[in-house]
Amino acid sequence: MKKVMLKLLSAAALAGVMAAPVQADEAAMAAAGAEVFKRCQACHSVDSSKNAFGPSLTGVVGREAASLPRFAYSEALQKSGITWTEDNLRQWVADNTKLVPGTRMRHVAISDVAEQDYLIAYLKTL
Ligand code: HEC
Repeated sequence: MKKVMLKLLSAAALAGVMAAPVQADEAAMAAAGAEVFKRCQACHSVDSSKNAFGPSLTGVVGREAASLPRFAYSEALQKSGITWTEDNLRQWVADNTKLVPGTRMRHVAISDVAEQDYLIAYLKTL
């Protein structure tokens, strides 16, 4: 267990070191985010005219939650009153059921800050 923790810690440290210079390069961040987004793609389309099992995520950064007209959102998300700021998106991908109890979205558990950075950089391009 200790060994695993150490491994995790050093991986996190490494990601931190790598994230700093990369930050300047939004394109590289977004490209890395496209990889992370593969975990969302099964349910989310990047085509604005299409909802899949989940709502389309085009233009999601800055959008009000549950605001697409043609998607049957859960009551919980409709009543959440949140806007998809970067901070809320981080909390959502880390633990969506904690941010909005009762949401229909499955837990994705992306708690790694570097991965969140990449993902958000990518979502901003949509
Ligand atoms: C198993 C399917 C599934 C996966 C995988 C998934 N989602 Fe979702 N997502 C949903 C569903 C269903 C909803 C609608 C939730 C509700 O109505 O409560 C949703 C809603 C959302 C919303 C709110 C959109 C809005 O219009 O308010 C965001 C943002 C989001 N997902 C991001 C992501 C990201 C980022 C990932 C990948 C890290 C991801 N989702 C992975 C099914 C999924």
